[in-house]
Amino acid sequence: MHKERFGAEPAIFVGPGRVNLIGEHTDYAEGFVMPAAINFATLAGISPRTDGKIAIYSENQSEERVFDDGVQAKRSLHWTDYPMGVTAILAGEGHKIPGFSLSIWSDVPLSSGLSSSAALEVATALAVLSLVGASYPGPKLARLCQRAENEFVGSNCGIMDQFISLNAKKDHALLLDCRDLSFKLAPIPDHVALVIANTMVKHSVAGGDYPTRRRESEAACAVIASHRAGVPFLRDATLEDLEKWGSEMEPKSYLRAKHVISEDLRTVAACEALLKGDMKELGRLMAEAHRSYSQDFEGSCVEADAMVALAQDLPGLIGARLTGGGFGGCTINLVEQTEAAAFAKALAARYAEKTGIAPQIHVCHASGGAHRLE
Ligand code: GLA
Repeated sequence: MHKERFGAEPAIFVGPGRVNLIGEHTDYAEGFVMPAAINFATLAGISPRTDGKIAIYSENQSEERVFDDGVQAKRSLHWTDYPMGVTAILAGEGHKIPGFSLSIWSDVPLSSGLSSSAALEVATALAVLSLVGASYPGPKLARLCQRAENEFVGSNCGIMDQFISLNAKKDHALLLDCRDLSFKLAPIPDHVALVIANTMVKHSVAGGDYPTRRRESEAACAVIASHRAGVPFLRDATLEDLEKWGSEMEPKSYLRAKHVISEDLRTVAACEALLKGDMKELGRLMAEAHRSYSQDFEGSCVEADAMVALAQDLPGLIGARLTGGGFGGCTINLVEQTEAAAFAKALAARYAEKTGIAPQIHVCHASGGAHRLE
């Protein structure tokens, strides 16, 4: 389709979506997350132009936008902000960006907590870098894509989504230290399926709740920091700190921080459990993480809580929790591979009956990171 529209054969790049197994709202507090990339992705096809213009076409939106004077300095509150934001950040790094045509296609469900935005940013970044003949190590490029979202799009996200989309390894989860971007890969055993259950309730990171939760947890951190030096982020705080100075916090801030501090501990423990093959412990930590996310962080919704509850006694379940930015989106269910298809069917039926909403349930696997399609 790119060739018909733009008259040139494109180079095509793949940016996968992701599912987070555990570690929610910890990335911007410089803590730990453990996501995996999934077999849903965004493709970006690119070819150079000689007229200096930048044309961006989305197959999903059936919409093309042409920027006559090339790279834009400001957002336009349009989906093209994601690819243009990445292009602008790369230009800011000193790359001379020529005119180009970019075609985008994606099967990552939008606004579902599976990082469709990061997939688009990452695929675009690889595409534009290929035009200028440059490349970056994965962690550095993840930071640049995050900056595109923070500074250009204006959404206050952390580093998790861009990082995993770029650095994932097939059949592995990745424990990321969001402070120094060091990471550990943990193989997902063959007998475990990633069953992603979409509540069909839309979630948005740019919208009000995500930044509100972030502010509330950061306010708790500021209280601790006023007593104890060396706590710039909740990553540096302990549950003892919280008990000591929690009474000086807004009750909500206390609860948000309780989630974040305990989630860091759970996430590191979950990686150890996965590495040891202790699925029982992994499932227990996921259950505790969901309780904390839902009750202390108040990051869930009725539908996601129902999706998690309805999964509990289905055969094959290892662990279930709401994944991603929260307030809707998808749950991640680790399920015995042999039971996965039946699990998905039964969960869909139960959820439809309970909520009146037909969910989408996908049996996924962990895939590799972003790359050029040969
Ligand atoms: C969204 C953000 C991430 C992270 C998660 C919550 O996906 O983009 O940076 O904060 O929410 O864990």
